[in-house]
Amino acid sequence: MANLKTLDEHREYLYQTVKLKLFFLRNWLRKHPDETLSATLRNRVDIYRKTSINTGLLNPTTLNFECPEWLELEHRLEHVYEQYKDNAAKFEEAAFAVFKNSIDERLEKDYKDESRIAGYQCGCLRYNEYNDGLKHETASFHIANALQPESFFTDPQYMPRCFLELMRQTAKKYGSTLLGTGTWLNSLPRWLELFPQEWQDNLSPENTDVLWHYGFWGQFITARGTFNYKYGELMRKTGGMPFYPRSSSCSFKNMKKHLKEKYNVSD
Ligand SMILES: CC(C)(COP(=O)(O)OP(=O)(O)OC[C@H]1O[C@@H](n2cnc3c(N)ncnc32)[C@H](O)[C@@H]1OP(=O)(O)O)[C@@H](O)C(=O)NCCC(=O)NCCS
Repeated sequence: MANLKTLDEHREYLYQTVKLKLFFLRNWLRKHPDETLSATLRNRVDIYRKTSINTGLLNPTTLNFECPEWLELEHRLEHVYEQYKDNAAKFEEAAFAVFKNSIDERLEKDYKDESRIAGYQCGCLRYNEYNDGLKHETASFHIANALQPESFFTDPQYMPRCFLELMRQTAKKYGSTLLGTGTWLNSLPRWLELFPQEWQDNLSPENTDVLWHYGFWGQFITARGTFNYKYGELMRKTGGMPFYPRSSSCSFKNMKKHLKEKYNVSD
């Protein structure tokens, strides 16, 4: 049985994640000279949410990018970029120093925050909710590891049960008959095994237009919620993400058949 991560491990997770995002930011800007540093920092990485300027939880509904404290950090980062844009190691070190105190200030709040799995109706899966009284053909879903420090892959029947529950609830509430999502996990063979051939056939091309959210960056989080050094190193070596998000969908009918045949799990 794995141990829950400690406060020290969470600090290390935040530090390593922010350093990797700064590594990514410098690379991205060099390849996309028409994009501003501010746009990359705000939209493609989520450093803001890890600083004390974020007074909300993990994923606040409003972001205060125009407040003087944030603009000051952006301004300092721009200065560091101008100084060290040709030296990856020096840039990362100086850029991290810009954010470190602000991350430290928010550390305990971030560690205690359980909003990561708030509203997940089916174990590790959450579907979009509607109050419009209409039928919603596709049950669009999101994924989080509600089993930390264990992985949701450990028990092979666990995710199949979550999917059955999601199909049961969304069929009843919205008349849904299709499952769909876009995620980095759709590039991970272990995840794809959960789905029928129809899902594999419907996979979209990789989305390489990197955005800040977990559909891209969730891959750098381990099952325990610590930093995934293996994938972090891969990004540092290749400059790209180990896994890019792809979207897919399939019918409840084919999914249920697959879960029964492969995992012996059924309603
Ligand atoms: C989804 C999730 C549970 C998958 O976790 P997992 O695959 O069980 O993760 P693991 O901790 O086993 O790590 C995966 C790999 O990295 C390796 N790894 C993990 N930590 C490591 C470390 N510190 N150093 C080196 N390698 C490490 C593991 O050994 C494993 O490698 P393997 O597949 O070759 O055995 C996890 O990534 C997560 O919670 N992500 C955040 C949520 C998310 O991304 N949601 C999707 C949003 S759309």
